[in-house]
Amino acid sequence: MAVSEDTVAGAGGATRPGYRAGIIGTGFMGRVHSRAVHAAGGAVAAVSGSTPERGPAIAAEIGAWRAHPDTDALLADPEVDVVHICTPNHLHEQLAKAAIAAGKHVVCEKPLSVDADSAAAMAAAAEAAGVVATVPFVNRFHPMMREARDRIAAGELGALSLAHGSYLQDWLLRADDDNWRVSAELGGPLRAFGDIGSHWCDLLEFVTGDRITRVSAQLSTVHSHRGAPVDTEDITTLQFATAAGMVGTAVISQVSAGRKNRMLLEISGTEATLSFDQEQPELLWLGRRDHSSLLVRDPATLGAEAARLSRVPAGHAQGYQDCFNAFVADTAAAVAGESPDGLPRFVDGARAARIAAAVLDSAERGGWVEVSP
Ligand SMILES: NC(=O)c1ccc[n+]([C@@H]2O[C@H](COP(=O)([O-])OP(=O)(O)OC[C@H]3O[C@@H](n4cnc5c(N)ncnc54)[C@H](O)[C@@H]3O)[C@@H](O)[C@H]2O)c1
Repeated sequence: MAVSEDTVAGAGGATRPGYRAGIIGTGFMGRVHSRAVHAAGGAVAAVSGSTPERGPAIAAEIGAWRAHPDTDALLADPEVDVVHICTPNHLHEQLAKAAIAAGKHVVCEKPLSVDADSAAAMAAAAEAAGVVATVPFVNRFHPMMREARDRIAAGELGALSLAHGSYLQDWLLRADDDNWRVSAELGGPLRAFGDIGSHWCDLLEFVTGDRITRVSAQLSTVHSHRGAPVDTEDITTLQFATAAGMVGTAVISQVSAGRKNRMLLEISGTEATLSFDQEQPELLWLGRRDHSSLLVRDPATLGAEAARLSRVPAGHAQGYQDCFNAFVADTAAAVAGESPDGLPRFVDGARAARIAAAVLDSAERGGWVEVSP
């Protein structure tokens, strides 16, 4: 298929020249990315995973043109314009740098890397090469989060005073639950915080336009042995302060029974409070002293960005995969030379890595630690 024959529908509905993705890693995220590429009108030109024998079957399953036996072959494929890195975290730096060196645009999963220095080096490499390099902080693409961002920017909450919330899961609740993320060597030294706390902090800074400046963190490992000794945390608790004067707390856990993917973000100002629960993404609670209300996603009544990201009418629920679809559509728009608002780039991944470094430092040393700006 020739590039000029493809069109890509952006999150705003525009069409543009084709987007040919090469997806590395074909687990949970590789499949989510492949659906998003197709939804954006792009093509999955190639895939590669850790088991070359299963490549052709996976390629057929996700609608890829071909499977490559290894990542070198995928990176050398002239029909791959954008490399999507969906592997365990310890491989992100090496693969992203190789993709950038091969002249490709890159989508690299979060956490961008396993430490702040390597994440900064990845952002610098993308900047120097002039390629589009994005990170799927996809909670930014919930329409009600764009609505919250617009209302905060317009001053509806007054002066921001407090932010708090949590990101809770239970898939590592039991001692016999295991995954590559449990190993610091494969996932990085902060597991729960790097995996899901990075989403929470990115969303807080994105929605408020404010920055976390200081943190005081504790880590807790409930199961010290999961088949092998565990060297990463199950729970992170965090206190923080921001540049604009907010104080706040966040609880990040992968061992909270019954909580599947519950990300709660609540922001208060001198006039009002906004509260968002990722498991109820069609709603935004607006709290006021005299009258509180529940805002419902409805493109007819929301701000321009929330309306742009509403792909179906009110009352027809949108969710996680829709966020991913919008994220890839906006990445395609950036590849086509546009500047979509709120697209999370490698600099945002590097920012999240600096917060993670401060969290780790605080937990190890005890007490407050400044976050490198
Ligand atoms: N943005 C989000 O919302 C979100 C959600 C979940 C996971 N993630 C991130 O996505 C990444 C992948 O997570 P996942 O949940 O899909 O994990 P997963 O275990 O389901 O899949 C990882 C895949 O990588 C493959 N792989 C391992 N080594 C490889 C190699 N050397 N070359 C090619 N492929 C290799 C594995 O075979 C597997 O298919 C992680 O960085 C994770 O943090 C992001």
